[in-house]
Amino acid sequence: MALPSIGMTRLVGLLGAPDADAPAYRWLADNLRLLIADGRLPSGQALPSERRLSQALGLSRTTVTRAYSLLVDDGFLSARQGSGHVATLPLGRGRVGVGGALLPGYETSDELLDLTCAATRAPAGTAEAYAKAVQQLPSYLAGTGYATAGLPQLQALIAERYAQRGLPTDPDQILVVGGALSGVSLAVRALTRPGDPVLVESPSYPNSVEAARRSGARLSPVTVEPDGWDLDAATSTISAVRPVAAQLILDFHNPTGALMADGERERLAAALRRAGTVAIVDETMLEVELDEVVRPLPFAAHLSSTILVGSSSKSHWGGLRVGWLRVPRPLMARLLQARIADDLGAPILEQLALAELLRSRPGLHPETRTALQTSRQAMIEALPRAIPGARWTVPAGGLSLWVELPAPRSRQLAAAARDVGLLVSPGPQFAVHHGLESFVRLPYKDPPAVVTDAMRRLGSAWRNVMDSPGRPATAPLRPVVA
Ligand SMILES: Cc1ncc(COP(=O)(O)O)c(C=O)c1O
Repeated sequence: MALPSIGMTRLVGLLGAPDADAPAYRWLADNLRLLIADGRLPSGQALPSERRLSQALGLSRTTVTRAYSLLVDDGFLSARQGSGHVATLPLGRGRVGVGGALLPGYETSDELLDLTCAATRAPAGTAEAYAKAVQQLPSYLAGTGYATAGLPQLQALIAERYAQRGLPTDPDQILVVGGALSGVSLAVRALTRPGDPVLVESPSYPNSVEAARRSGARLSPVTVEPDGWDLDAATSTISAVRPVAAQLILDFHNPTGALMADGERERLAAALRRAGTVAIVDETMLEVELDEVVRPLPFAAHLSSTILVGSSSKSHWGGLRVGWLRVPRPLMARLLQARIADDLGAPILEQLALAELLRSRPGLHPETRTALQTSRQAMIEALPRAIPGARWTVPAGGLSLWVELPAPRSRQLAAAARDVGLLVSPGPQFAVHHGLESFVRLPYKDPPAVVTDAMRRLGSAWRNVMDSPGRPATAPLRPVVA
């Protein structure tokens, strides 16, 4: 079967004009590498023959041959009999790299499928944004490089995005930090003293809960069901406990994928207002909208004392390590003071790169959205056969299915899955205290073929669990990074 190939006009357009300062083969190899790494020349696409490309670029055939062979050596091209050269990613050799987390001390191998990290690869255009950022860097080198609250142009772009969502925001209300987790952690530390009650959701993103725990908070969990929040329970807990802060993920909640509607936000905001609680609302998943939904207002539009936490890790790429807080004015001094006690600002280069990305596309890349929709569908189709009787609510956004098993055996399932080369995160990893043994989180961030393979392995693991109910659930679990 013929491989998809990139059109000559498009390729020549993407390559641009040769760089007069570099040897032509080096210019060509560097630019092709960038396009492939960046996804603009997708992995799996065939390149034009050496002869055709040399004619189109007005270069000698030897130049093109030399550039191609450099890229073959680097792992960015593979030479295939009959198909010429095909774009590949060195990463593509290990499927774990597709969405796996680089955790020190934890094994990776080509055979292991890692569903413990709900995050995607960088979309097309990321390396280009970095390249533009590098070009801008020299003008910052004469300064100290400490942008403690954030680079002004990035603060302005982020503020503008809130305004578009119906929440007028001044750039100086934005505090740029090293990712959403760092933002949540900073906010809870700034707002609470050891022993203070803090409302958290259960299940929840475990690292944010751990951040509250480590700041000495007394955790009061409220339940998030697969289809949303138990607001009656939440409002009565709030009035009984009067938490100092409430950590909430209202937009495609991790792990359930639930989205809180405006009416519910209004009710929750009223309860928090009465109790004098500051909400810390983590909007990390906001842009991972897969189905069309009525977008609710940011929680700060319902409760003005709210600190909103945002991140580029799911809208763009986790490797940027850039997130931010939108802080109500009366709290800004407190937050800044807490921030400089442990961190003096986010890296300039990454902030410049994110500003570039936000200028060209503030939300999720359409290709990422389509890929996630397709993989979510592949998972939904494969799951009933893998685990008969499993139940889930299809989330309108986010990166995972939160699956209820027909029996409370999720840690046993994770151990059995490990034996067949699949890593999954069982429900108890997302519980605030304990429980959720009937749930497993299954991210659909990998290509459909990998998802289908993962579901086949999950099915075999589930059958093993049901065949030997006494099986111990002692396998060490990989921490949930994202
Ligand atoms: C709800 C939530 N908050 C925070 C994070 C961590 O985000 P960041 O990489 O921006 O620190 C994640 C990662 O998945 C998440 O799901």
